[in-house]
Amino acid sequence: MTKRVAILLSGGGSNMVSLVDSMTGDHPGRPCLVLSNNPGAGGLDKAAARGIATAAVDHRPFKGNRPAFEEELIKALDAANPDIICLAGFMRVLTERFIGHYEGRMLNIHPSLLPKYKGLNTHARALEAGDAEHGCSVHEVTLKLDDGPLLGQARVPILDGDTPNKLAERVLVQEHKLYPAVLKRFATGDRSPVFYP
Ligand code: GRF
Repeated sequence: MTKRVAILLSGGGSNMVSLVDSMTGDHPGRPCLVLSNNPGAGGLDKAAARGIATAAVDHRPFKGNRPAFEEELIKALDAANPDIICLAGFMRVLTERFIGHYEGRMLNIHPSLLPKYKGLNTHARALEAGDAEHGCSVHEVTLKLDDGPLLGQARVPILDGDTPNKLAERVLVQEHKLYPAVLKRFATGDRSPVFYP
């Protein structure tokens, strides 16, 4: 049976585009909703242009009340009846209530070779550490931030003269390959990780 895939984002949505564009033909998933905490997110326009249902729950009026914000997010998501939820540049920390509600069916992409560099500024941190390589990871979302069972990882070499921006661009190219590959596998019920290269 086709899996309904909802995608959450906060910004430009390039990962969302790569996921949506991959869900054609014999792919087991189809997009059912693109949801943002940012009504001005460029990703919402890109989704709408692709004929996908979109919604926004602005987090700002809920300042200081994360549970109330999450209840609205849950309402919007559950109305679309998703089987799988993909976080794709969704920049809000989620609580136990939200994560528990979607346990076992929520994925996230993070721009580092987890367990290294959870949180923000991952590219600069990899450069500062003098690492030889960097990359991105897709994992199942559990209660610990940027943690949970690994579902895929793609590596890129760090080059002489790299800056955080240059490195981020090369990692993003890999994100756009890795996330669709993991989603396709996950949607068939296969949780074995994908590794690139
Ligand atoms: C990506 O680097 C993703 O790994 C991170 O946020 C960025 C989102 O980019 N969590 P986009 O909105 O998908 O273009």
